[in-house]
Amino acid sequence: MKNQMDTNDRRNGLCQNKTLELLGIHYIMMDFFFSILIAFMTFLRFLTHPIYVWFAQGKKKSVPPITNDILRINATELAAKIRKKQLSSVEICQAYIDRIKQVNPIINAVVEDRFQQALKEAKTVDDYLTKCALNEEDLEKIKPLLGVPVTIKESCSLQGLSYAVGMLNRCGYKAESDGEAVARLKTSGAIPLLVSNTPEMCCCLESSNFITGYTNNPYDTTCTSGGSSGGEGALLGAGASVIGIGSDIAGSIRIPALYNGIFGHKPTARIVSLKGHFPYCYDEKFKSCLVIGPMSRYAKDLKLMLKILVGDKQATQLKLNQKVDLNKINVFFMEGTDSILETRVQSEIKAAVQDAVKYLSSQCGVKVKDHKFELKYTLNCCGKHIFNIKDLPDPLKGENDNIFTEIIKTLFGQSRYTPNLLHYLLVNKIYDLFVSDRTMEFAQLKKTFIDSLGDNGVFIYPSAYTTAGKHNQFYFLTTTAAYTILANTFGCPSTSVPCGLDKNGLPVGIQIMAAPNQDRLCLAVAEELEKHFGGWVPPK
Ligand SMILES: *[C@@H]1O[C@H](CO)[C@@H](O)[C@H](O)[C@H]1NC(C)=O
Repeated sequence: MKNQMDTNDRRNGLCQNKTLELLGIHYIMMDFFFSILIAFMTFLRFLTHPIYVWFAQGKKKSVPPITNDILRINATELAAKIRKKQLSSVEICQAYIDRIKQVNPIINAVVEDRFQQALKEAKTVDDYLTKCALNEEDLEKIKPLLGVPVTIKESCSLQGLSYAVGMLNRCGYKAESDGEAVARLKTSGAIPLLVSNTPEMCCCLESSNFITGYTNNPYDTTCTSGGSSGGEGALLGAGASVIGIGSDIAGSIRIPALYNGIFGHKPTARIVSLKGHFPYCYDEKFKSCLVIGPMSRYAKDLKLMLKILVGDKQATQLKLNQKVDLNKINVFFMEGTDSILETRVQSEIKAAVQDAVKYLSSQCGVKVKDHKFELKYTLNCCGKHIFNIKDLPDPLKGENDNIFTEIIKTLFGQSRYTPNLLHYLLVNKIYDLFVSDRTMEFAQLKKTFIDSLGDNGVFIYPSAYTTAGKHNQFYFLTTTAAYTILANTFGCPSTSVPCGLDKNGLPVGIQIMAAPNQDRLCLAVAEELEKHFGGWVPPK
């Protein structure tokens, strides 16, 4: 099966080479149009930006400060305190439920909660602990998250709760069983509190849909919380969750992590089961680009969650229990894609990349490498790789609807589909028509990247070129995913790390990538950078 695929790939590559020679001009024209389009959208972004800012004037709100100290304890420590009976699971779950009720009217991140059941389960944990014969270590081994509340992105399936994923024709649909990732968290003793908001079918970098509406950024409600794991991002940023899970096919964990000032880890391809995720498709490329992964307010909790999500055997293979010696790490870095067509990276994000490299080399003894990667055409070749996925679920096809009719209808507010989803489908069409197939270039880039990083290298790179945009500004921030799709299409792990706030009070962040199966390097560097940058900063 695998060999056959390789042969096919090679054949496609060879064919493509020949076609390229014959139709070189055609390809140049195709990509030329795409370049013009990007440059034009970048130009429009500058024209429209002041309008967005002007409309948001005086409307900015943020969430109230945290008063309960329980909300400032990391999940690793919460679990330890529950085991030691220093804090009860009921007390902790109640603290989070109170906080969610306080902030949700402001951020609108919850699709459906299960607070009553969660409190019952917490009570069962506390009762169990009063008569439990196991010692603390054994308990930690079997149930590392016993009694700790967790939040779940709606697309990951939490039994009995909404599983509409923002689609009107799925409204009222409930998950019949737990997705595998959720099941593993439950087995580890975690208590799910709710499912959180996503864009329609997870197809946008802004979490809004016709069922739940817009999720707001906890630092500035006129801004987006990102997407597609935007509900998780907003809850974590608001201090209304300590750990959660999201999914990421082009940046959907790392972009909300950046926008909401938290940590998010996109694991190596295929190490976390996707069972129960919606949308899903059987194309192998889809299964290697999409991942489910942990999001958290404290760096250390990512590793604990990843171990649970992959299971003991794989955690050992990934050496997640071994200490990483930062002395032996090579650091590569770039401050942007270097494409002249795209928006420049915000100065605070560039500064964070510089600062991280400086800190790691002066304080941790890492070796800084000069080598730069050729990432100018990421959008073309990595974007094409994603949009080449066969049988991506197309909600319009199922209903016999036409994208252009729906776009016209949406202008008059008459479409059943969100403008976000139609925008995504339009981008898909643009890739089909105007971006040439770059299988060979992509393969070369991927190989160089992975070989250079090896088993001891990390790559520090912006998570996106700006901090959170205003609501609906994503239409003009067309190249945002250029920074994140790299890790999805290469199958590489990547951790988003918060680096303080920008001049508008919005979170700044960067991502740490590594070669496949070297997740531990990203996580170790993230923990180190948390010390330097101060990690999550509560909204004021
Ligand atoms: C976790 O929380 C505890 C209690 O607040 C704190 O002492 C500890 O340093 C934290 N650990 C990390 C790695 O953040």
